[in-house]
Amino acid sequence: MALTDELVRALGDVSSDISVSSTLPPACYSGTDVLAAELSGLLRRSWLGVARADELKAPGDYRVLELAGTSTILVRDDEGRLRAFANVCRHRGTRLLDGAGNAAHIRCPFHGWTYGLDGSLRGATRMGATRGFRHADMGLSEFRTAERGGFVFVTSTDETPDIDDWLGSFDSLLAPWQLQDLVTIRRRELDVDCNWKLFLEVFNESYHLEYVHSATFGGIYLEPEPPDEVGDCVHSSFSPTAGTGGLRADEQDHVLPAMPGLGAPERAGTRYTWVFPALTFAAGGEALWAYGARPLGPRRCRVTQWVCFPPRTLATPGFEAKSQRYLARMDEALAEDIAVLERQQLGMDSPFARAGRWSDLERGAAAFAAWYARSLVQF
Ligand code: FES
Ligand SMILES: [Fe+2]
Repeated sequence: MALTDELVRALGDVSSDISVSSTLPPACYSGTDVLAAELSGLLRRSWLGVARADELKAPGDYRVLELAGTSTILVRDDEGRLRAFANVCRHRGTRLLDGAGNAAHIRCPFHGWTYGLDGSLRGATRMGATRGFRHADMGLSEFRTAERGGFVFVTSTDETPDIDDWLGSFDSLLAPWQLQDLVTIRRRELDVDCNWKLFLEVFNESYHLEYVHSATFGGIYLEPEPPDEVGDCVHSSFSPTAGTGGLRADEQDHVLPAMPGLGAPERAGTRYTWVFPALTFAAGGEALWAYGARPLGPRRCRVTQWVCFPPRTLATPGFEAKSQRYLARMDEALAEDIAVLERQQLGMDSPFARAGRWSDLERGAAAFAAWYARSLVQF
């Protein structure tokens, strides 16, 4: 999908120097041609953070996800490996699975072709008269998957660089939080009436905290530290907090135990990380809360929320009641953000919307914008 010259020029004003850069042009948040370019290029050639690995525990556990406009089956195979396949029958194209569940094999509802959890075609009746038909040629189209920090990443092209190049120093920077060991206690999906990028941006700027979250937790957050060098496709910075960022300001005495690997410096705040383009999370002193967003259209997105705790915290007395306060804090924050995001979308839809400028409290959103502006044109 070709981008207009005007848009390419406007994207050229977006750079990683926050002091001179523009924000992304409004067309990036409302145009169907931009969405088409994202779906055919940028989102397809990226590693998309799509799940927590512990969502799919047993062999045969699967979930169908819409990734870059492509229905995708994420499944744990018989060897315990997570795999991703195009949700398309190799016979005549029928969608194979919906929703989530457990299946010993993947069976097409149309003519009964049956695939193993490794994607290979295991059974197809009445194909004996078809010359040159070989089961080995007719396996499901497979996408690359990777697991890092307990997150599952998927990409649907071979051109995407290796996951470790994508993530840079992610593993070492996040090591104290031992993300791979955390247990997901909440996975929730919701649809929001804003562009998918707006949803992820708000999570990565602290400018709005005192305006949007002043009644709940805004005052807990202190001046963020300068961002850490991670890699081209990841932004991460540490926000010191007065108390825990995982609870409302007036509920601080219900704090759960700190994550086992954290020292005093990490316990003194929350690390905000965005793995471009589609996954962002906050690694707090006691909990991880994460969001994925993917487009349903230029003005609507599907958001996944995950909230995770260390296994030993789950075993502490009173965990059930205390964790509810964390979940309530996440949901209140979400509601406050969504209210303002839907207003932002309304403004972005105006023909009079123009690219703006960044505050130095918007470094995460600005870093993404610079990456996005480069990538949208390149991809
Ligand atoms: S389309 Fe799947 S078996 Fe025919
Ligand atoms: Fe917010």
